[in-house]
Amino acid sequence: MIRIKYLLVITCGILNADFVQADPEADRLALVHYYQNRFPQVDLQEYANGLYAFDENAREQWLEMEDFPPYEIAIEEGEGFFNTPFSNGKAYADCFENGGIGVRQNYPHFDSAMGSVVTLELAINQCREANGEDALPYLKGELAAISAYMSYTSRGNTMNVRIQDEDPRALAAYEAGKQFYYSRRGQLNFACSNCHAQSAGSSLRADRLSATLGQATHWPVYRSKWGEIGTLHKRFRECNVQVRARPLEAQSEEFRSLEYFLSYMSNDLELNGPASRR
Ligand code: HEC
Repeated sequence: MIRIKYLLVITCGILNADFVQADPEADRLALVHYYQNRFPQVDLQEYANGLYAFDENAREQWLEMEDFPPYEIAIEEGEGFFNTPFSNGKAYADCFENGGIGVRQNYPHFDSAMGSVVTLELAINQCREANGEDALPYLKGELAAISAYMSYTSRGNTMNVRIQDEDPRALAAYEAGKQFYYSRRGQLNFACSNCHAQSAGSSLRADRLSATLGQATHWPVYRSKWGEIGTLHKRFRECNVQVRARPLEAQSEEFRSLEYFLSYMSNDLELNGPASRR
């Protein structure tokens, strides 16, 4: 509790929910400007490495872990699942542009026919269901492995999330995600931004806090704490619990909009998933 109080003190009054306005590109540039002013020593692309952009010691341990990446098995398994045909003879490759190779930078996107945000994980299950297969659970396991393989084939591509002008519902979904990020919730009454914008780079218990920029470039993630690979929405749920809020469902409309906002904020950064974290 004492540490939380300390965090409140250091977060006081630096940023608030009005910090960003309605235009996504203006929002993104404002955040870039904000972090670059605060951390002039951190290169923009470094934000894709999360807390390791700020913490030298943790970064060394992380680089050692990356010598034998703990997510490698998931990539291999994912490739196997990806290439195994459905019972109707079709495959994942038939559902995606470019056969699903190197496309992660375009997710999430707003699907006008559906009237909703489509994340890569949702698209994987849509593909399964369109081909008569059951949907997979969203937090980990087979779906996370397929997502890991698809991320791996997209490494080095630049995040390219679009908010289509021609459909005002796309901007509305982005706005909903942004509101979510800047709204306080839970018994501790913290917004995502209180930790990851105002307090980015500061310590919370054993961790430094990652910045908003780059939070979406590297999913799914193998976390030592999980002992396995997990999806971005699994992490969202943990951060809900962290402030003692009831965690929302993975792939709920709220979380998909949140991912839309967060991924747009990572535009122009290189994809580097899957990744490892403590
Ligand atoms: C009380 C502080 C706190 C709040 C509030 C909080 N988080 Fe976190 N979050 C953490 C900590 C601690 C970590 C682990 C260290 C890190 O990677 O930043 C983390 C990690 C993350 C990561 C993984 C970063 C990476 O590089 O893999 C994401 C994504 C994330 N949080 C998103 C959110 C979102 C979205 C919200 C709002 C729903 C939120 N967080 C609210 C403390 C917080």
